[in-house]
Amino acid sequence: MDPDRTLPPHVLIFPLPLQGPVNSMIKLAELLCLSGLHVTFLVTDHIRTQLLKYSNIHSRFTPYPGFRLESIPDGLPEDHPRSVDGLKELLGNFKINNRTRTLFRDLLTSGKLISPVTCIIADGFMGFACDVASELRIPIIYVRTISACCLWVFFCLPKLIESGEIPFSENELDTPIKSIPGMEGFFRRRDLPLFCRSCNLEDPIFKFHLHEGKENPRAYGLILNTFDDLEGPIVSQIRTFCPNVYTIGPLHAHLKFKLTQAGKSSSSNSLLKEDTSCIPWLDSQPPKSVIYVSFGSLAIMTKEQYVELWHGLLNSGCPFLWVIRGNSVLLELSKGMEERVEERGCIVEWAPQEEVLAHGSVGGFLTHSGWNGTLESVVEGVPMICWPFFLDQQVNSRYVGEVWKLGLDMKDSCDRVIVEKMVRELMEVRRDEFRKSTDQMAKVAKECLMKGGSSYCNLERLVNDIKSM
Ligand code: UDX
Repeated sequence: MDPDRTLPPHVLIFPLPLQGPVNSMIKLAELLCLSGLHVTFLVTDHIRTQLLKYSNIHSRFTPYPGFRLESIPDGLPEDHPRSVDGLKELLGNFKINNRTRTLFRDLLTSGKLISPVTCIIADGFMGFACDVASELRIPIIYVRTISACCLWVFFCLPKLIESGEIPFSENELDTPIKSIPGMEGFFRRRDLPLFCRSCNLEDPIFKFHLHEGKENPRAYGLILNTFDDLEGPIVSQIRTFCPNVYTIGPLHAHLKFKLTQAGKSSSSNSLLKEDTSCIPWLDSQPPKSVIYVSFGSLAIMTKEQYVELWHGLLNSGCPFLWVIRGNSVLLELSKGMEERVEERGCIVEWAPQEEVLAHGSVGGFLTHSGWNGTLESVVEGVPMICWPFFLDQQVNSRYVGEVWKLGLDMKDSCDRVIVEKMVRELMEVRRDEFRKSTDQMAKVAKECLMKGGSSYCNLERLVNDIKSM
């Protein structure tokens, strides 16, 4: 069905059913609504329920009459926990499930959408969306919600195998990587995504990422949540695979900026209930004195890691705000500890993170190096201590510590002594040095969103390209 040229172009956005991708792609949805496009935001039934329960998605999108929220099942049983343990299963199901592919196709051809779809914007993880798009002759643009540096590593996996750099053994972790263009000299095997350490080329996750270099260039373009001053050189490398790249990040700040310009306010799109009681606690702390500790929505700490972190934080003498998700630690352990923590810290199950990082009392962020949290920290000029767990986090943490000089990479050495040492280093010993580099990066992160800035221009180009489809 050809689009009606009298109607605004209609974009269907389809994120992966996870907090990180939903978080950034809903921001993209609002940016496109602000540019006058019609947007259908397609999620799984489970994500839709969470969005309706915890975020104010309806009131937030009321000013945009061309916005619709649609959902389809994710193929998992209703009582499935959909936690990190189920992640592989969830992604596996969602990716290959023929039922999802059929439901997606049926929705596009059903005639029940606000208007025929001009362009699909889907997570680059979902190859089936590209198959359906080409079958229906609808242009598709992929979005990758991870860092460009990690995406580049994924694209280079075939080179790494060819050169014999993977698989590798545990005693080669500090050997530099030579076959990833643009990363020579500082990038080690230990900085590769964790699944590369398993040495199992038959691992489905490994195989899937191996396929990506072939999959992503099939789309009309690739949207990245990053900005040129941060990852420009790596984005140039990515262009050798996918020539049409739109770097329009940091998305959260971009949206905030555009909303302010339009005289509107921004709001949360959390999939979990935010505990705002930490804000009055932060208000009572001295400027830049608090270290904020959070490991995103997926990472699960072991009992041992939890104990090491707890000791390290207490021994550092630094006040801390710690997010402990209900499912992230052994609860019986946290019970006894909470009392002692009260002396110097505040614990919440889920924080209003952007507001926390923007708070004047926060002087550091102990993070798992998820990409959203990293960008939120960059924009607020908060230096980081990186404790990476999986996926892109090992790559991001190396860039934070070694390339951007925005903090310290604690990778693979996360015990109580190191935690204490790094918190002291970040918050006291090298405080001025880090403040200088984080302030500078925060400044350029904001400049790229202003008229004439790289992300500003790339968003304009994206919207114009969609309008001309
Ligand atoms: C996942 C992957 O784990 C990560 O590696 C990848 O880069 C993105 O997808 P996640 O682990 O959840 O993401 O981390 P992150 O990317 O940092 O996203 C977490 C989001 O939740 C952030 O936007 C953050 O603001 C929000 N958050 C986190 C809260 O709102 N409150 C909290 O207490 C913690």
